[in-house]
Amino acid sequence: MRIAFLLSGEHPSLPYHEVIAVLEAFGIKHNTLLKVDSACVIEMDASERLYRIFRERLAFTRSFGRLIGVIEPSKFPNALDELEPPYITSRFRATAIRIRGSCRELRTTYIERKIGEWILSSNKGAKVDLGNPKEEIICLITSGLLIIYKREGVVDRTLFKVKEVAARPFVHPASMRPTLARAMVNLARTRPGDLVLDPFVGVGGIALEILSVGGKLLGFDISDKMVVEAKNNLISYGFIEDYYITRGDALHLDLPAKVDRIVTDPPYGRMSQAVGTTPRELSEGFIRKVPEYLREGGWLAMAVPSDYLTEDDFVNVGLTPVQYFDIREHRSLIRRIWVARVGDNANKVLRH
Ligand SMILES: C[S@@+](CC[C@H](N)C(=O)[O-])C[C@H]1O[C@@H](n2cnc3c(N)ncnc32)[C@H](O)[C@@H]1O
Repeated sequence: MRIAFLLSGEHPSLPYHEVIAVLEAFGIKHNTLLKVDSACVIEMDASERLYRIFRERLAFTRSFGRLIGVIEPSKFPNALDELEPPYITSRFRATAIRIRGSCRELRTTYIERKIGEWILSSNKGAKVDLGNPKEEIICLITSGLLIIYKREGVVDRTLFKVKEVAARPFVHPASMRPTLARAMVNLARTRPGDLVLDPFVGVGGIALEILSVGGKLLGFDISDKMVVEAKNNLISYGFIEDYYITRGDALHLDLPAKVDRIVTDPPYGRMSQAVGTTPRELSEGFIRKVPEYLREGGWLAMAVPSDYLTEDDFVNVGLTPVQYFDIREHRSLIRRIWVARVGDNANKVLRH
């Protein structure tokens, strides 16, 4: 089955790799057929269960659905007749979404009308309903192409809004925004039931997302105050089990067992200080400890300033850096999300 995704334009590559990471976390075979600005088409064995996972897990996807076809604008609308029309038996709407001014020569209202007419002519029970449709056909206009799909799911991003840094009962300026924290949890291929370590837990921004996807959390912070506030934040969002948070120094943890995943955001800004060392040394020192904490085959996702770590820092301690993503936060900070794996069975191609 070919599934089209409308991706958030917040980053050029991270939203696509987040989808791939979730497919890999759940062991779903996949083959990317198309990857363009803010959209992709991936072949996979889709199911209602997988649609639910996409809806509940993805932070940087807006909607997704079964591909109907990809059309060159110059062949629109005639090329519609070469496609298999979707089976629509009730109220529907066609919606065209233009990405970054692509194909301005085609008006969105024209595209919507032509797709609507095409569906009506091939489905007896179908009825246009612009206000309250049961089914929606999306036409993405992007990178000089029209990507048409029947929407199967929308990611409810309002759920992230209620966890925004400023909306939490216990606030810390260095806390990570929930969409990025969720994307990191996904990039680490976290599966329900995985034991996930955040050794710089702060007020629990990443912790909230680990628990939201069904992970079990082991959290540490050098500051007693942060430990208390992280626990209070988790409780205020209804999480009362599946975590253990205590005071600890990330460089000297005595873990009962190795963990499945590490997702973390060490201190580096003015807002969040390293204790007894520089933030750079703390990040470098922590990478050297990762093989002691993370099991063979386990995944790490870690955010640091882009000039802190190099590929060699990972390789030298037996980690394989798999990919990284740079995110400009403000004039003086480019945050780099490193994704790495323990052991040499990892994919050695560095993608970013
Ligand atoms: C950037 S904040 C983490 C923010 C967190 N990810 C969140 O979203 O709320 C970094 C945290 O690391 C803690 N920290 C600093 N040095 C540490 C160390 N050596 N071991 C453990 N925690 C440390 C700080 O107290 C701070 O709370």
